[in-house]
Amino acid sequence: MAKVYALGVGPGDPELLTRKAERILREASVICAPSANPTDSSYALSIVEEFIDRSRQEIIVQTFPMKKEQKELEPFWENAADEAAELVRQGRDVAFITIGDPFLYSTFLYIYRLLLDRYPDVQVEVVPGITSINAAAIAAGVPLAAASERVAIIPAIFEGEDLRRVLLDFDTIVLMKVNRVFHKVYALLQELGLEKKGVFIRRVGSAEEEVVFDLETLLGKKLDYLSLLIVKK
Ligand SMILES: C[S@@+](CC[C@H](N)C(=O)[O-])C[C@H]1O[C@@H](n2cnc3c(N)ncnc32)[C@H](O)[C@@H]1O
Repeated sequence: MAKVYALGVGPGDPELLTRKAERILREASVICAPSANPTDSSYALSIVEEFIDRSRQEIIVQTFPMKKEQKELEPFWENAADEAAELVRQGRDVAFITIGDPFLYSTFLYIYRLLLDRYPDVQVEVVPGITSINAAAIAAGVPLAAASERVAIIPAIFEGEDLRRVLLDFDTIVLMKVNRVFHKVYALLQELGLEKKGVFIRRVGSAEEEVVFDLETLLGKKLDYLSLLIVKK
């Protein structure tokens, strides 16, 4: 029976794909790759390009614009779910590729919910991936947790008092999607005396990987969406 697969493709290095994800990717009839706008290439697709045979497999690059209002994104998720269900009903396996792991802040999660609700007859299999968090911690040489340490993972749109509480309460704090609010986060780290305890990691696992310990040097720069901050007290 044909299925929808959600494949975690890891953070950037093709060698960080699981053997299972690679096998399914090589076998799938259709590969759906996300992109933030129609003119951009898909980062997830760039990771797995070497496993795909374009003469035999169909690639669909789907646009999911970066919008704050979730309502505006619903039609894009609905189209993706409807298209996948239609292809599966035609007997074709469809593989959605997602950066890192599909169950960690991925766009696929919205499509997954729609598939379960609207198409209960369509089977969905999710294959875990190495998250950007795991790879970033290792690239920076900063263990996420030892012994009884506690870790918080938060999207950095979490601001002000909420962010302060998390920074005070946990031993390791991972801030995802930090690019747009970095200056505010840095100001708060300074206020709490934590500005030297953070490390910024960009495009981990790819040829453009950057690990920055001197956070001050990032102020005023346009930062990459594919970056995160680890604060380790
Ligand atoms: C929509 S979330 C996707 C997370 C992904 N599913 C995972 O498991 O890592 C996007 C955020 O993940 C982080 N991210 C994803 N890939 C990254 C990479 N290669 N290097 C650094 N951060 C990355 C960034 O914080 C980015 O804003």
